[in-house]
Order: sequence, then structure tokens, then C-alpha cells
Amino acid sequence: MNLPLKTLILFFTGCCCVVGEENITNRYFPETFQFGLASAAYQVEGGWNEDGKGENIWDRFLHEQPNRTTDGKNGDVACDSYHKWKEDVELLKEFGVSVYRFSISWARILPDGSANRINQPGVDYYLNLLKELKANNIEPLVTLYHWDLPQHLSELGGWLNPQIADYFGEYARVAFSLFGDYVKRWATVNEPKSTCLLGYGNTMDAPGLVLIGDGIYQCAKIQLLAHAKAYHIYDKEFRPTQKGKISLVLDTPWNEPISDSANDKEAAEREMQFGFGWFANPVYLGDWPDVMKERINNRSSQEGIGFSRLPELSQEEIDYINGTFDYFGLNIYTALLVGYIPDDDISVPNYWLDKGNTLSSDPSWPASSTDWLHYAPFAMRKLVNYINDLYKPGEIFITENGWCDEELIEDPDRIRYHKGYLSSLLDAILIDKVNVVGYTAWSLLDNFEWTSGYTQRLGLIYVDHDSPNRTRTWKSSGLYYKKVVETRCLVDTCIDEI
Ligand code: NOJ
Repeated sequence: MNLPLKTLILFFTGCCCVVGEENITNRYFPETFQFGLASAAYQVEGGWNEDGKGENIWDRFLHEQPNRTTDGKNGDVACDSYHKWKEDVELLKEFGVSVYRFSISWARILPDGSANRINQPGVDYYLNLLKELKANNIEPLVTLYHWDLPQHLSELGGWLNPQIADYFGEYARVAFSLFGDYVKRWATVNEPKSTCLLGYGNTMDAPGLVLIGDGIYQCAKIQLLAHAKAYHIYDKEFRPTQKGKISLVLDTPWNEPISDSANDKEAAEREMQFGFGWFANPVYLGDWPDVMKERINNRSSQEGIGFSRLPELSQEEIDYINGTFDYFGLNIYTALLVGYIPDDDISVPNYWLDKGNTLSSDPSWPASSTDWLHYAPFAMRKLVNYINDLYKPGEIFITENGWCDEELIEDPDRIRYHKGYLSSLLDAILIDKVNVVGYTAWSLLDNFEWTSGYTQRLGLIYVDHDSPNRTRTWKSSGLYYKKVVETRCLVDTCIDEI
């Protein structure tokens, strides 16, 4: 883009920013940068038992225990995207985005999780969606597993049974062969840390097991093997003809030391290793982080256990998992302050004790309506630099980033959030030269926010969950994002060069 004189004048007279936006960049996003929106099957589709779909762990969990969610509600209908997918694509088109991240419900296409029975109506649902996206020039970014394991596989042990990796490989092969002609970017598993810590570490997520000292580590290993299996199947059997990219989606807050002390700095880095390196190291570097191996091994022996609760990765497994990426899929929402505590509590085997550390947030970071999420835009730039330097992934894609509130249509805090985080991201791209190629904001719609039910909203489009029609309405943040997508600029007027 050329730099018109008028733009320069506006810039130097300070009209680039309104009050409170002093730190928002007035540069343009690169032409090649992809803007998009994201969702996940259980959170938007509904149609939980329609047209031959099998039951999954969230169906079972919330039908049996409705009090697991704040409002006692579940994803049976959600945003009804199983029926309203055309309207969703219409919205995406109005946003002007070039990419839509959504997930496939495993049990919708393989009701028992096994490739022995394919549910054609479920397949047709995704084919129709993919064709509609293609007709509107919107690229799909398809997640294979966003937390909704087929119930049958959970009864086999779920992510604690090593054979689930084989089932996942078969599922992935079915998905690649049915949908791969339309998909150029795949994500295997979404936030495997959340699956393990929330589903197998406390009662928060399905299937609701509490195996916080050991099961969670086994879950991690099996998910990594499942991811790697899907990667290798794609690599050998499909990449030559389909020519797409495949990776997994990892998440972390940015962990900032609470002080400049050496102990707090070490604690913050350990927090990164336990919360992020746990999955990133095996894929991008090979093997678990050293600090996890050392601490869990030591603590296991102090507890009187004759082996490490962190299951070893054999050399063969290390080689199988290492390098299974074509990009880095990153979910980033917030930051934490990390402080050191002495490693002396060996009362019970427990991930949180294995890791140690105190976690808090800075009172100056504006709070959202949920306790884990604060406005800390610097987190974006620091984290993508950290990933770029340590893991050298070649390419980073921001697969989720979003704000939680209880507002309906007017949501200035969400505008501030996306503006601030995108500005921080653009600094990383333009100033630090980090190769971040796309951003799918979380989320297209106010959807089912897991154990918060429908009480917490993260959408750029408002959904009236009380209306049978699940009416969609543009929020002010949606209109703001639409303008950003159109202009590639976060403020009123942008310039090309500083
Ligand atoms: C990450 C998860 O992938 C998504 O499902 C969830 O809604 C958001 N975090 C917000 O909590």
C-alpha cells in the first residue's frame, strides 16, 4: 500500500488513536495475513442425537450430571449450527474473513468411534459445510478432536488406553479421505493439556476423573502418540495429493515472573515447561522437558514409588512424535504472574505440587467475567517470540484468542481486547519478524462455554439461547472486527511504514 499524504498528516496529528489506545499500532497487517473466526462442534452444533450421531462423553456427562454446568444446561441444541450452518457461513462471509476454524464431531461421523461404521448423514453435514465455505472463498481450518470423545471409546478407558491412539489414527484417515480435498490446514487435537488436566485431573470436564498425580501424565502421552499417528498417516498417505498442513493446537498463558528474583524467574520458566513444554517439547524438540523428568522422578521416589509417575518416552516414541508439525497452532488468552515456592510438599502425588509455583494476576490487568482471563495484551507478543525462539516452528497460527463477558450487544471490553492483542501480534510480526500467518478469533458465536454453560459469552456475534431460533445478532465487537478484516488496520487510519 502506498502512503497517502493525508494519512501521514492524520498520523502525525495524533488522530490514529482515540483515548486509551495510545499503544495501538497504526500499521497495516500484511496482505497475506489470514483473518478468521473459530468454533468447536460440541459448543455450537447441537443435534446431539440426530441422523445417527453417536453419543460422546459430553452428552453422557451432562445428561447424567446436569449440575456440572453453572446454568444446568448442555450442548444438546447449543447454537443449533447443525441446522443453521448456512446462516453461519453467511455471517462469516459478511465478516469478510478468509478462514473458519471448526471441529468435526468424531461420533457424528463414526458413532462408536470406530471406523467400522461410517454415518453418512454426519459425513454429509461436514461436506455441505465445506462446500459452502469453498463457494464463499473461506478456507477451513479443521480440528479433529475438540474434547468430544465418542462415549464408547471412553468406556474402553478413553485417553488412558493406549489403543485410543489407534482409533484416533483410523478416525483421522477417514476424515482425510472424506474431507481432505477441501482442507488445507488440519489440527489434530485441541488443547491436549486441558483434556488431561480438566477431564482426567479434576471433575471439571468430561469424563470427570480425578487422576491428578498420574492419569494426567498417561493421558498426555497417549494424546501425543495419537496426534503423531494422525500426522504420519497424513504425511504418507494424503499429503502427496492433498498438499495440506497438519499440526496440533497448544495453549498457555504468558507466564511472567512476579519479581526479578532468580527464584521467580526460574519458577516462571518452569511454569512454561510444565504447562506448555509438556506437549510442545516432544513435538518440536523431542522428549519431555528435562525439568519435568527430574522433578517428577525425584518426587515419585520420595513418595515411595519405584518409577516416575511421568511415563517414559522410549527412543522409538520420541522419534515418532518429534517433528510432527507443519505449523504451530496457538490458543492464547491471558497472562499470569508466577512466584517461587519451596518444593517440599510431597504429601500426595499431584501435578500442581510437581510443578510448584504460585499463580496470580496483576491487579492492573482488567478482569473479564471469568477468573482465569485478564486483559494483558503484551502476552501475545512475548509468547509468539518465545515460541519462535525456542521451538522454531517456521509458521505460527493463532487458533484462538478471545474475551469473556456477560454483555449482550454492546461489548466495548471485547473490542479493547481484540484491538490490544492484535496490535501486540502485529508488533511481533512487523518489528520482531515472527512469522505469524493467521488469527481465528474465539469465537464466531456466543456458544456453550463448557462448565459455564451459556452464562459466559465469548462470541463476536450474540446468540439468544432462549429463542427457539437461536437468533444471531451482530455485537459491536463483531462490527469492529469486520472493519479490521476489511481495512487490515486496527485504528481509524493506518500507514505502511514508521
Ligand atoms: C479454549 C477451548 O479450546 C475453547 O473450547 C473454549 O471455549 C475457550 N478456551 C474459552 O474458554
